[in-house]
Amino acid sequence: DYQPVREDKFTFGLWTVGWRGVNTFGEPVRPVLDSVEAVRRLSDLGAYGVTFHDDDLVPPGSDDDTRRQLVKRFRGALEDTGLAVPMVTTNLFSHPVFRDGGFTSNSRDVRRYAIRKVLRNIDLAAEMGAQTYVCWNGQDGAETEAGKNDRAQLDRLREAFNILSAYVREQGYGLRFALEPKPNEPRGDVLLPTVGHALAFINELDHPEMVGVNPEVGHEQMAGLNFAHGVAQALWHGKLYHIDLNGQRGVKYDQDLRFGAGDLKEAFFLVDLLENGGYTGPRHFDFKPPRTEDMQGVWASAEGCMRNYLILREKARAFRADPEVKAAMEASRVGELSVPTLGEGESLADLRGEQLDLESVGERGYHFERLDQLALDHLMGVR
Ligand code: GCO
Ligand code: MN
Ligand code: MN
Ligand code: MN
Repeated sequence: DYQPVREDKFTFGLWTVGWRGVNTFGEPVRPVLDSVEAVRRLSDLGAYGVTFHDDDLVPPGSDDDTRRQLVKRFRGALEDTGLAVPMVTTNLFSHPVFRDGGFTSNSRDVRRYAIRKVLRNIDLAAEMGAQTYVCWNGQDGAETEAGKNDRAQLDRLREAFNILSAYVREQGYGLRFALEPKPNEPRGDVLLPTVGHALAFINELDHPEMVGVNPEVGHEQMAGLNFAHGVAQALWHGKLYHIDLNGQRGVKYDQDLRFGAGDLKEAFFLVDLLENGGYTGPRHFDFKPPRTEDMQGVWASAEGCMRNYLILREKARAFRADPEVKAAMEASRVGELSVPTLGEGESLADLRGEQLDLESVGERGYHFERLDQLALDHLMGVR
C-alpha cells in the first residue's frame, strides 16, 4: 500500500514542510514549524532523514548559547526518532547582504562573510554525520550585463570551492560538495544555470573529485530541458552526489510542486533511471506545499511525494519485467547501442572493408512509438 520505510531513503528539507507560503505578492499563510515537530512528523510518515540550511535550524544573529541549545534539541529529536542528516546546506540568499550573491558578490567583504558562514556550518554538518554539502547559487547571478564581470564571477566561485575543499581535507571530514544548478529566480540569470554548466565548471577546480551535482527536477525543466537526460549525464560522469525531487509544469517560475505533480511521464523515467542507474543516495524532496494548504495539507503533500515515488518505482519495475516490453526493446535495437562501434581487436581496415546497403537500411524503422506506448500503458495502469 505504498507505505514508505527507512530503506527507501526518503529525505526532506526542513525548509520544505516548514515553508510558510510567502510569495512575491502574498504574506505568509502558515505558522512557524518547530524543527523538532518537523522531525517527529517526518519520522512518523516513514522518512529516512532530514536536511537543513544553517538558518533553518539556528536563526541568524543567535548568540552561541542559543545556538548550542537549538542544536541540542534538534539532535535529541534525531536520536529519539533515528532520523539521519545525510545533507546540509547554507543560506547565502535571504539576508539583505546577499542581494548581489554570496561567493560571487561584487563586495569582497560579503564574499569573505559568505565563506565564513559556510565554514561554520560545514563543522556542524560533519558533526551530524552528513555526507553531502549542497551549494545552490541563490542570489549569485545578474539582471544586467555591465554590472557583472562573468569571468571574474567564475574565478571567485572557483576560489570559494578551492578554499572549502582544502578546509574539508584539512579537517579530514567525509564530506563532498554538490552544486545545484538553476536557470533563474531569484536572479534574472543565475550562475551555473544547468547541470551541463555545473559539470563543466567542476573540471576547473583543484579537487574535482570532491564536487558533484545536486540536480532539481523543476530547475532543468524551467530551462525547457529533459531532466532524466540531465541526470543520466550526471550519472555517466560519476557526479550524481545528491538529487532534489519535485514537480514543475514547463518553462515558468520555480513551482517546487510535490514530486509527481507536473511532468508525470518524465517522473516515471526518472524513477526508472534512479532505480536502475546505480544511484544509491537519498531521494530528497525539495518541494513547497502550495499556499492554499494549511498544516494538514502540508503533511498530505509530503506524503504524496513519497507515495508517488513508490508508485512510479513499482510501475517502472513492471515495465522492465514485461516480456512484451523486452521484445519491443529488441525490435527498437535498444541493447545494440551498448555494443561498441568498433569491436575488440578490429581496426579501421575492418570498418573500411564493409559495405552498408543504403537503400534497405534507409528504410529501417525503429518502432519507438510502440515501445513508448507500452511505457504509457504501464504508467496509466492499463497493463
Ligand atoms: C529552489 C532551490 C532551493 C535550494 C535550497 C538549497 O527551489 O530554488 O531548490 O530550495 O535547493 O535552498 O540551498
Ligand atoms: Mn524554490
Ligand atoms: Mn526549486
Ligand atoms: Mn533544491
